[in-house]
Amino acid sequence: MNRFDHVLAIETSCDDTSVAIVAADGEVKAMVAVNQDQEHRPFGGIVPEIASRNHSKNLLFQLEQALEKAKMDWSGIDGLAITSRPGLVGSLLVGVITGKTLAMVYQKPFVGVNHLEGHILAPLLRDQTTAPPENFSAPFLSLVVSGGHSSIYYVEDIGKYRLLGETVDDAAGEAFDKFAKMAGLGFPGGIEVDRRAQKGNAEAYLFPRGKVKGKPLSFTFSGLKSSAQRKLAELSKEEIKANIDDLCASYQQAIVDALIEKMKLAIEETGASRISITGGVSANSGLRRAANELASQRNLQLALPALRYCTDNAAMIGYAGILKLRRGEESGASLAPSPHSLEGDFVV
Ligand code: KG4
Ligand code: ZN
Repeated sequence: MNRFDHVLAIETSCDDTSVAIVAADGEVKAMVAVNQDQEHRPFGGIVPEIASRNHSKNLLFQLEQALEKAKMDWSGIDGLAITSRPGLVGSLLVGVITGKTLAMVYQKPFVGVNHLEGHILAPLLRDQTTAPPENFSAPFLSLVVSGGHSSIYYVEDIGKYRLLGETVDDAAGEAFDKFAKMAGLGFPGGIEVDRRAQKGNAEAYLFPRGKVKGKPLSFTFSGLKSSAQRKLAELSKEEIKANIDDLCASYQQAIVDALIEKMKLAIEETGASRISITGGVSANSGLRRAANELASQRNLQLALPALRYCTDNAAMIGYAGILKLRRGEESGASLAPSPHSLEGDFVV
């Protein structure tokens, strides 16, 4: 018998505030998540100070709501899982201090979780309406693509992850958001580019598929961004407006092709037969279509988590955290936030 059956998890690494209660088999008993897009939109990007202020405003209410939703009280919570890195330090600080204080008050063990391990394990979450593909488990390849990250990991086993490649400049979500901003589509722009791309011709404009010399599994999106910037500068406001769907479709295709290309190489390198894509960009319809095609062509098992588990959420942190606690990994009172992952943090 393991003493960790349910944990309460807190995620405040960026601009989403989320609390969840998760069981050891990945079942999400309750999850509450509030995004702050409205608050940051007028500034065209995430303002760290506004993000942390909103976390501190929302978090305690969300804790109550999560317990209520799960029909549980603190007596049923065996520990806490708290995102401690990487992320915006001011944002992380709100979750870390709140979590440690609750752990002290209710006398529960707690563990700091690397946000990226959460994204990697998100495909294994289940609730009343979603579950992983049957028998989906490690080893699998994981593409994590969000506003802050673009990385490919080989999940040898739970808790044993090999980083195969990552971006050398912008993250895929950032590449979407920057293009949307340049083209006047607002913030966050990924979803808007996707919506317009669905009506456009992806071959109308030729944008580069970034390659990093000597690092075939690394991503680069800076050349793509500059190329789009040049193209937009060549066109008049009217031309941009008239061709916006084609511009979005062509730009999106360049990102999707680059991501899928690296996945293909990683599949060849590892011999993986299971793949997953998580992070906010995995909501992209073009990427989902291409991933499904790749999986069916190569007879691979593909896990694309429900959108609520792809974007930043506490359920994925709870699952990563409960597995850590069950392995005997606990954090101490000195747990502190860090903007970066730390050496030997969670990758082997
Ligand atoms: O995982 P996430 O919610 O937060 C981070 O950890 O960054 O990801 C947010 C990112 C943003 O860059 C947003 O523009 C992008 O995911 N995104 C999309 C789509 N939906 C969200 N990008 C492309 N297509 C979408 N449908
Ligand atoms: Zn994230």
